[in-house]
Amino acid sequence: MALEFLNKLRSATPQLWVNPQRGLLLEDNPADQPPFLRTEMQAARDRFNRFAPLLAQLFPELAASEGRIESDLLPAPAMQRALCIPAHHGRLWIKADHSLPVAGSIKARGGFHEVLEVAERLAIVTGQLHPGTDYRSLALPPARAVFARHQIAVGSTGNLGMAIGVLAAALGFRAVVHMSTEAKEWKKQRLRQRGVEVVEHTGDYEQAVAGGRTLALADPLCHFVDDERSLSLFMGYSAAALHLHEQLQAQGVAVDATHPLIVYLPCGVGGAPAGIAWGLHQLFGAHVHCFFAEPVQSPCFLVNMLAPDGTSPSVYDFGLTNQTEADGLAVPRASPLAASVMRTVLAGVFTVEDQTLFDHLALPLAAEGLRVEPSAAAGLSGPGHVRDRALSCPGANHVVWTTGGSLVPHAQYQMYLDRAAKRPPSTPQ
Ligand SMILES: Cc1ncc(COP(=O)(O)O)c(C=O)c1O
Repeated sequence: MALEFLNKLRSATPQLWVNPQRGLLLEDNPADQPPFLRTEMQAARDRFNRFAPLLAQLFPELAASEGRIESDLLPAPAMQRALCIPAHHGRLWIKADHSLPVAGSIKARGGFHEVLEVAERLAIVTGQLHPGTDYRSLALPPARAVFARHQIAVGSTGNLGMAIGVLAAALGFRAVVHMSTEAKEWKKQRLRQRGVEVVEHTGDYEQAVAGGRTLALADPLCHFVDDERSLSLFMGYSAAALHLHEQLQAQGVAVDATHPLIVYLPCGVGGAPAGIAWGLHQLFGAHVHCFFAEPVQSPCFLVNMLAPDGTSPSVYDFGLTNQTEADGLAVPRASPLAASVMRTVLAGVFTVEDQTLFDHLALPLAAEGLRVEPSAAAGLSGPGHVRDRALSCPGANHVVWTTGGSLVPHAQYQMYLDRAAKRPPSTPQ
């Protein structure tokens, strides 16, 4: 590893790392294959479809989509101009997970999937569900009485807790969210209003997860959603790839050797971006290039990728603080599951300063009228890095995944905008 690169990492200077191991071994050696199959991605999607009528009944905001939890793929020409990406570097798109209904973030994908899987399993073993049963029966008192005896718990920096807590409580489970110190107050309040128990931890994300896991182990009727290890979360995220594939086809976008798909995903512990990147890799193989975006003080996935396989360094080992306004990305150590799957799949990682997050948060609003939170703005630096390294081409399609923000309260959002270098005018509620 070049000394200059390590010095920049330690001094929290933004940079791009390109993965030299990408594509190595993957197809040749079964030992390098992840412990799951492409069919499980489709199974996750089928599960979402089975539950859609019930979700539409539980959440009025899902009536229009008939219970589907999905986001738009938006062409972003004004953003492309604002980011100075010329047309000969390809075309810019936004995958608008900041507007995912009910949870307002990418965490709805994995989080909802795991809650639905738990509910389905419990409903089957207790005789509430049989082949052909209308899933809306799970909103009736007999099923709710079963769910009420069980607890679903999770450790979170905020958004995963919002997704898990809101859905678990709506189904009738006892829902407990262990929040790390950086979790925003409004997220805690929103959960409490929905009947979720919020446990506030004074430590970082890793400590909140460990605390929640220990408490959950003591309760046989508690299911702990383990963001550092869960396959169910991973598969829920991966199903996004199937939908993006359809959206690209519907827009007439080809993905092949002359039309690479370049995807920029904000990364915290790594489960969400790795699930999506793995799913995309299943569908597009070598023609998709996924880059993860991390705060300069919390590049946990990058430090994992730099270390030998099987080791699990933390950002503190590099003298970094894990302090960032991107609360969803404030994670000191990457998920071992996500890291092992990504080692030969990931195209690279770039790091972002907090000030850039605020500047970039203001851009989607000014250019496309989109409201994102700091974590979700992290991907916007990606196309510039790729342009500067000449990694793109005229046929490329760049997809920036905006991962959260539509539920941020007006006052909080205005505070974010105020921190942008070029302040846009005050926004309407
Ligand atoms: C808005 C947002 N984007 C991205 C992420 C990253 O997801 P993961 O922690 O699975 O890497 C998070 C995590 O909470 C988030 O809240």
